[in-house]
Amino acid sequence: MKEIVFQYQVLENASALSSEDAQLLQKARAATSKAYAPYSQFQVGAVAMLNNGETIEGTNQENASYPVGICAERVLLSAVSSFYNGIAIKTIAISCHNLKGESKNPVSPCGICRQSLLEQTIRQHQPIKLILSGMEGVVYILEDASALLPLSFTAADMK
Ligand code: THU
Repeated sequence: MKEIVFQYQVLENASALSSEDAQLLQKARAATSKAYAPYSQFQVGAVAMLNNGETIEGTNQENASYPVGICAERVLLSAVSSFYNGIAIKTIAISCHNLKGESKNPVSPCGICRQSLLEQTIRQHQPIKLILSGMEGVVYILEDASALLPLSFTAADMK
């Protein structure tokens, strides 16, 4: 029998974060206002801290043809790859809220985004730390986003 252990940190709120991580989460919370989510009314903001100290934002972008919509995380990963090509992502903070501005729980990347985060992690040879939280309250910290997708499919499987 094999076992995969998944560990993450749970903080009561953002005050226990380092100042760099707290600022990044603040930016993710603010970025939610730039989401285009008229159909789900669920606005997500994702902000990356790059190895060079720059930050870049992504938000979910929906479409009248629902499957065309893209999650904040993949908008962000595409932007980093396009505008900051070759620069690794150190940390990504993600936040969200509904139409009423409420978000009781941290948002966790969907399955497709987990696969995209894994690909980016492999490309950059460096784990991506995730900071997940709603607009207030509990914060989850994951040291390596790829842990969200155990027993995953990667390029190595096609060799
Ligand atoms: N969404 C994200 O942008 N990221 C997540 O981690 C979860 C879901 C978006 C997709 C869609 O626009 C809306 O939230 C509702 O699913």
